[in-house]
Amino acid sequence: MSIIKPATPATKVLQLKSSIFDSTTAQGVSSQLSSELIEGLRSIHTDVHVTTRDFSTTPVPYLDAAWLQALFTPAADRTQEQSEKVAYSDSLIAELQAADVVVIGVPMYNFAIPAMLKSWTDHVARAGVTFKYTDKGAVGLVEGKKVYLVVSTGGRHAEGVTDFIRPYLRTFLGFIGLTDIDIIVADGLNMGEVPRAEGLQQARAQISEQIRQARAFAERRGVTIIQTGEAA
Ligand SMILES: Cc1cc2nc3c(=O)[nH]c(=O)nc-3n(C[C@H](O)[C@H](O)[C@H](O)COP(=O)(O)O)c2cc1C
Repeated sequence: MSIIKPATPATKVLQLKSSIFDSTTAQGVSSQLSSELIEGLRSIHTDVHVTTRDFSTTPVPYLDAAWLQALFTPAADRTQEQSEKVAYSDSLIAELQAADVVVIGVPMYNFAIPAMLKSWTDHVARAGVTFKYTDKGAVGLVEGKKVYLVVSTGGRHAEGVTDFIRPYLRTFLGFIGLTDIDIIVADGLNMGEVPRAEGLQQARAQISEQIRQARAFAERRGVTIIQTGEAA
């Protein structure tokens, strides 16, 4: 019997691993879970291209005054160092613009997002490129992308009470036009063996549900049926 699976065309995924820990260790949970979600996407789309920014191996520099000065200096007048700074910020924006799906692993560090993820937001928030101001207020210019946040926390937190990750990222991402956001949460990870196992199980169940929904969405849009196996 042939195995048939639904498929949609190539999808470009931008994965941001913002944990300070290498995802091959017991820590870096948000990075591990975000990779599991991307594996799930491979069961839906025939061709998944993943661009990964791993902050644990390649730190994101802070946007300081020299960096801003470089951005505000006309291209023709920039020093070599300023051109490199602008090119770096541009590359982060280009990766975001190129993606169909953005998957961000977000550990909670001191009730908030990791400092390097905040730095990433500072690099990609560019007036006239990722947002603009109009007489009716700000308008996001990065549109038509699906965003998954994979949040990991040592304790358990209510959104907007002791969790400033979800409200902040919803606000920031919405500001640049990314409003289609689903959030997976692995919590209680430092509360002991049982709560940790429950937190991981809960997150994996949420990932499965997200994949189920993404598959149903792809099928509603019309699918290309491909044969992945021959009759036995
Ligand atoms: C520097 C640091 C600060 C942390 N702050 C918090 C916190 O405020 N609340 C909390 O619930 N867990 C906190 N944790 C625990 C992490 O959220 C938890 O270990 C999570 O799994 C980290 O995700 P990661 O493994 O992807 O880095 C902190 C961990 C570190 C290393």
